[in-house]
Amino acid sequence: MQKKLYIGTNTKMYKTIRQTVAFLDELGSLTRDIDRNLLELFVIPSYTALDAAARTAQAQAITLGAQNMSWEDEGQFTGEVSPLMLEETGVRLVCIGHSERRHIFGEDDEVENKKVLAALRHHFTPLLCVGETASQKELGIQNEVLRSQLKVGLHDTSPEQARHIWIAYEPVWAIGVGGTPAGVMYASRMHTVIRQTLREIYGGEAGDRIPILYGGSVNNMNARELIQAPDIDGLFIGRSAWDADNFSRIIHDLVDICLIK
Ligand code: 13P
Repeated sequence: MQKKLYIGTNTKMYKTIRQTVAFLDELGSLTRDIDRNLLELFVIPSYTALDAAARTAQAQAITLGAQNMSWEDEGQFTGEVSPLMLEETGVRLVCIGHSERRHIFGEDDEVENKKVLAALRHHFTPLLCVGETASQKELGIQNEVLRSQLKVGLHDTSPEQARHIWIAYEPVWAIGVGGTPAGVMYASRMHTVIRQTLREIYGGEAGDRIPILYGGSVNNMNARELIQAPDIDGLFIGRSAWDADNFSRIIHDLVDICLIK
């Protein structure tokens, strides 16, 4: 059976409400020819755009995600957004532990774990992001870093819940302006470490079912090669996806490759 492809973008702190809706509309029309049984297409815009974007996303068969979420349902937490508030917007996916949350806003693995558990409790799909920094890579401890981010971040989740979990491998040194995309061999090795760790946590069958996406300077040149590597089930794209036309070109390329893979 043809494996499903997971392709999506996080628009970070770019795109206003109006820009997000227009982007979803355009992306939806440009990818209408692609069978959504083969493609899980997702967009993770800013919180303020979620409500307005929900209807368009649904009409265009695009899964909508949130960039972050509080682990508390309510309380005195100025500036936080609760899972109950996200439920109202029709969001299905919640990005947890993005490298920018970890490294700019100081979130750690214990915090990510609380968010993963809260997301599952509210029937969202947590997209847990993991990845080593440049200095951890230089020290040669990337495997250990990934293993502990997964073991702590997914602590107390069950193989049954694992059906709803997605993982993104996003090496910190590869992300954003100034980032260097990971080579395919390196990314593939890290995805294998992640897969082995997921098998350890959940057992073979449940661990094998979890999609593992690669993110970090994915572009029109490297996307094809990355998607063909073992254990890379999808791509999580920033800058190269923010123009709907370019994103659609990447998506079509990947779908073509995977159909003949
Ligand atoms: P870039 O593709 O711009 O490096 O961003 C990747 C990312 O952070 C996706 O969440």
